[in-house]
Amino acid sequence: MSTILKISGLSKNYGALQALKDISLEIPGGSVYGLLGPNGSGKTTMLSIILGVTKPRSGTYQWKGASPNESSSHVSALLEKPNFLPKTRISDQLNMIAILRGIPPEERKLRVEEVLKQTGIAEAAGRPFRSLSLGMKQRLGIAGVLLSNPSVLVLDEPTNGLDPQGIIDIRNLIRDLAAQGRTIILASHMLDEIEKVCTHAAILKKGELIKTEEIRRESRSKAGFVLKLGLENQPVSHIIDALKSWEHSIEVEQTEGFVVAAFSPGAENASNVNRWLSEKGIYLSEIQLHRASLESSFLKAVEDTK
Ligand SMILES: Nc1ncnc2c1ncn2[C@@H]1O[C@H](COP(=O)(O)OP(=O)(O)OP(=O)(O)O)[C@@H](O)[C@H]1O
Ligand SMILES: [Mg+2]
Repeated sequence: MSTILKISGLSKNYGALQALKDISLEIPGGSVYGLLGPNGSGKTTMLSIILGVTKPRSGTYQWKGASPNESSSHVSALLEKPNFLPKTRISDQLNMIAILRGIPPEERKLRVEEVLKQTGIAEAAGRPFRSLSLGMKQRLGIAGVLLSNPSVLVLDEPTNGLDPQGIIDIRNLIRDLAAQGRTIILASHMLDEIEKVCTHAAILKKGELIKTEEIRRESRSKAGFVLKLGLENQPVSHIIDALKSWEHSIEVEQTEGFVVAAFSPGAENASNVNRWLSEKGIYLSEIQLHRASLESSFLKAVEDTK
């Protein structure tokens, strides 16, 4: 994937408060990129900067095909809660947005129908905004973003305030949009949200970038569980060699004197893994359930801000 946005040394102050500290990262085209961090960590500030709404104190952002610190016409964003007129039909309101976006008159009707269909609210086209559920309102906000057919969508906390079904709906919509080849950059303070929908994540804490990570969902969802395994007085390569021959181990890697291994549900549980290894003459000195690294980094980010 080629880089669609390159951020280099971005900093931002609000008076004495440093909201962003020297952030550098690259967002691959076609990714669903999550900015994850607790309240006040700088997510909205960063999105506002890359959208050209707020100016950085220093550093640059560069969209593919654009000059540094310039916005891109391929990018469309939903930064705040969708704001619509309460009593007006939603199709009429989308039509107004289409006018503002400069969509030619002959294309407007079709575009409005398309985005209503894409976001799954076509049957509500004739209804006033105030009659929509929160999830439908959020979908409508995204429909407005889609009018200009952007290749990049920037969404700030798209599931905030939604009930569980609304959250699932938006998550599915984001997946659909990504499957169409669009890049999606979204901010959330919920780890679960990011893990379920994103391909990449960056963790922010008090304006600092703690870590970036690619989320390998496929191997994780196939994994029944992940264990951290250790041996006393023996090289851990013994565990690695043994596990590589076991049908229920999916991924085995060595880290800092331990082995972190992912197992399919067929491995059943940790004691079964222990039993299987002991049958091979390998007696573990340490065995513990391993947290995914995104989770442990995020928990650390949250803990330290308390
Ligand atoms: N316009 C502003 N003036 C002064 N301080 C601000 C302004 N906007 C944001 N801040 C401060 O900058 C820091 C980062 O805020 P930001 O809104 O970017 O965080 P966030 O990660 O989006 O938080 P949330 O999860 O609550 O949306 C916070 O301490 C916030 O109070
Ligand atoms: Mg925010």
